[in-house]
Amino acid sequence: VGLDEIPGPRALPLLGNIRDIDLAAPIDSLLRLAREYGPIYKLSTPTGDRLVVSGPELVADLVDDARFDKLVTGGLSELKPRSGESVGLFSSKTQDPLWQRAHSILMAPFSLQAMRGYTPMMVDIAEQLVEKWTRLNPGEEVDIPADMTRLTLDTIALCGFGYRFNSFYRDTPHPFVEAMMRMLAEAQARTTQLPIQTRLRIRAQRQLDEDRDFLNALVDRVIAERRAQGDAADNTDLLGRMLTGVDKASGEGLPDHNIRAQCITFLVAGHETTSGLLSFALYYLLKNPRYLERARAEADEILGTTAQPTFDQVQRLRYVRQVLQETLRLRPTVPAFNRYPYRDEVIGGRWALPAHTSITVFTPALHRDPSVWGADAEEFNPDHTAAERMADLPPHLYLPFGTGQRACIGRQFALQEATLALGMLLQRFQLVDHLDYQLHVKQALTVKPEDFRIQVLLRPDVR
Ligand code: HEM
Repeated sequence: VGLDEIPGPRALPLLGNIRDIDLAAPIDSLLRLAREYGPIYKLSTPTGDRLVVSGPELVADLVDDARFDKLVTGGLSELKPRSGESVGLFSSKTQDPLWQRAHSILMAPFSLQAMRGYTPMMVDIAEQLVEKWTRLNPGEEVDIPADMTRLTLDTIALCGFGYRFNSFYRDTPHPFVEAMMRMLAEAQARTTQLPIQTRLRIRAQRQLDEDRDFLNALVDRVIAERRAQGDAADNTDLLGRMLTGVDKASGEGLPDHNIRAQCITFLVAGHETTSGLLSFALYYLLKNPRYLERARAEADEILGTTAQPTFDQVQRLRYVRQVLQETLRLRPTVPAFNRYPYRDEVIGGRWALPAHTSITVFTPALHRDPSVWGADAEEFNPDHTAAERMADLPPHLYLPFGTGQRACIGRQFALQEATLALGMLLQRFQLVDHLDYQLHVKQALTVKPEDFRIQVLLRPDVR
């Protein structure tokens, strides 16, 4: 079956399928279209035709790195660097020698073993969150996504390059964070603009250049300070590993402009994704007291009255991790990634795709397939992602961290950080859903629950 026969909503002249997508809730629209048109459908967008795929048999082909590659497009790649500047891992092409070099240097510092070294820094920031919640007056609310973002931003900046944003001591974001957020909002806005519109928005471009210069300058300063420390520097963080690491294949290290791009990429890729995960996990626990109790019992058993959990304790929080994995099944905070075939290909033994066709793997639909997860696939239940079950699951059926060589390098980091933080919160606080919060999902580059506010009480038994 050729491209022309792939089903999909009827496209209007010029506008394509723009009216079929609710820009305020694109995930819901894409889920609805998947239900209506099936495992593969075609959408026409201002930037060209795109296939949206969520059928397990089709995804099985798309994850084959020998035949398919990551397509760098949309969102972040709108923020093209100036000529001669580097892009980070996330937005580089697989063929870029600097992607390969950085990937090879960074694999070890992002491995599970490396998390042992970062755990004390993760605890440092999680303690600041706990302190803040401990000191609230009765009746005060917490804004969950806002506090989770403080946590994840400060954690990646501290573990990444020894910098403290001190977000828990501020009401308004650090200027670096403000500039970064503005850049991300601009990237998002550009995905729905025609190229001519983008070129006409001169003021937006000027702001973008200013913000980029500001980010670059701060990171350059941090790098220069570290270099100035010479042998005395503690190079155990990600920055240190990048400054001293050498790629075995080429025998070369990373140039400073690339290290800078990686630092900024870690901040961008590493904070909203993980804060969205924690926010959704808290939401699901709040609405499912049975699972909340079980997670709390585990936190009590393994953490007890420990003030500063160790790497090994965090590893033993298996049910808490399961809760996070189930959260990523239903609410993958990076809900899609893009692929293309190197050559003409047939997928699922049926659909013929010409070389370089743009394909979007849409994980919220893949992750809700009842033939894989059972009749209650739409429901939150951490049994879905129990370790025994996941061990038997073909890997292409659960892809919250993408796939193959271009999968998320920060996966262990995110899970370690989120398990630790959720464990510490359960160990100390009772969560109160005083507003009977109704889930409203906000999607920018990533996904999070909007306006999610609760009250927290120090558990009477741990006072
Ligand atoms: C790539 C998801 C946390 C850094 C990816 C991809 C996904 C993803 C789906 C693949 C994107 C694609 O194929 O286009 C997530 C989720 C996270 C998370 C759901 C949290 C729950 C992190 C953290 C970091 C990070 C904490 C860094 C500290 C990266 C980088 C890449 C990436 C650098 C690009 C890797 C490459 O192409 O070589 N992530 N991520 N992510 N992620 Fe994450």
